[in-house]
Amino acid sequence: MDSIIVRGNGPLNGVIPIAGAKNACLALMPATLLSDEPLTLTNAPRLSDIKTMGVLLESLGAEVSSLNEGRVMILSSHGADNPLAHYDIVRKMRASNLVLGPLLARHGKAIVSLPGGCAIGARPMDIHVTAFEAMGAVIELKDGYLHADAPGGLKGAEIDFHFASVGATENVMMAATLAKGTTVINNAAREPEIIDLADCLRRMGAQIDGDGSSTITIQGVESLHGATHPVVADRIELGTYMLAPAFTGGEVELLGGRRDLLGAFCDRLEEAGVDISETDSGLKVVHKSGRVRAVNIKTEPYPGFPTDLQAQMMALMCTADGVSVLEETIFENRFMHAPELVRMGAQIDVQGGMATVTGVERLRGAPVMATDLRASVSLILAGLAAEGETVVSRVYHLDRGYERVEEKLSACGALIERVKA
Ligand code: UD1
Repeated sequence: MDSIIVRGNGPLNGVIPIAGAKNACLALMPATLLSDEPLTLTNAPRLSDIKTMGVLLESLGAEVSSLNEGRVMILSSHGADNPLAHYDIVRKMRASNLVLGPLLARHGKAIVSLPGGCAIGARPMDIHVTAFEAMGAVIELKDGYLHADAPGGLKGAEIDFHFASVGATENVMMAATLAKGTTVINNAAREPEIIDLADCLRRMGAQIDGDGSSTITIQGVESLHGATHPVVADRIELGTYMLAPAFTGGEVELLGGRRDLLGAFCDRLEEAGVDISETDSGLKVVHKSGRVRAVNIKTEPYPGFPTDLQAQMMALMCTADGVSVLEETIFENRFMHAPELVRMGAQIDVQGGMATVTGVERLRGAPVMATDLRASVSLILAGLAAEGETVVSRVYHLDRGYERVEEKLSACGALIERVKA
């Protein structure tokens, strides 16, 4: 397994291009199953999770090809007729569950293994299942697979989510585009990836209103057609690299960055003493050398502080001036990076969903292990500001969600290299 070696090397200065959003792309790709005509996605990120979704769609009978080194993806589901999403693929990535809605809508049948993905909590599927049942599907769990049937097709329904689940909003929104009648999702997720998916579905002929708010209304149509859609910028990659100069000092411009994608994250970063400004091509982050101020965060659905940036923010707080409290409300087991940061000299006390971090002057490099996707990048950021060498092992997690991380950071002056196993 590859590892990444990082050595503290002073301020970072430069320009980092932000890729298309992994999480948006993982929802956009299954939308191909809703139409016989090709769906073209531009600004696609080149990541192992995206490849996994491609393999899953191919196993369902879709054709997936790419141009421009993977930046443009062409998906075609003409003739795709296999409703079985096998465990061997689905276990690699929870987002595989996003084929459930499109398969049900198109074929009236889906057999989808229960998903795996990052080990950051139980992550059940009850919100998805309850919604499809309300739309007329009969769903049974057998041998680790959800067997869903809607022989007469799905019917529009009014659905109240008990939590604003991102995946359930995407799954139900896709399925409802081809259902008979009107579907209303109450307490829908409002993440930018939901708006991006709705935009793409509208380009394919769907009738959707209210995306970006808590109530989304979808009027079912007979069929959807082909479309070309650019994937929105990856707000989690954006936030991750916005943090880099806060660790080391320096000035970094994030090409394609937009403040509105990040909600409360930018407010907290400014409160910590980091300057954020808009440029013609994105966002610029400036931090003079020195420790940032400790700030408290609480993860919440968008526009609250994103759980996918909690690990990176915790790493920053390890050397902040003061004590910060980080509350994780989305996933119950998402502090696995804390013991690794402690190996680097951090002072962190975790009690349930709360972590109290007492900032120290400086972290020291150490061998550490990446436990999930966002944890791995938090250790790299910590290593950029630590004294000595940090070796992050198990970086396959990183490759699921960050494209060319070594290249992007070394272009700004970081000492970072990948060691092939
Ligand atoms: C998506 C993101 C992930 C991010 C998460 C929260 C993708 C591919 N992944 O994951 O990076 O961390 O949103 O912003 O877009 N839940 C239930 N029942 C359900 C569904 C979810 O209880 O049926 C719970 C989960 O266990 C979890 C919480 O809701 O505690 C959030 O899950 P959800 O919003 O569905 O996240 P994902 O779509 O899996």
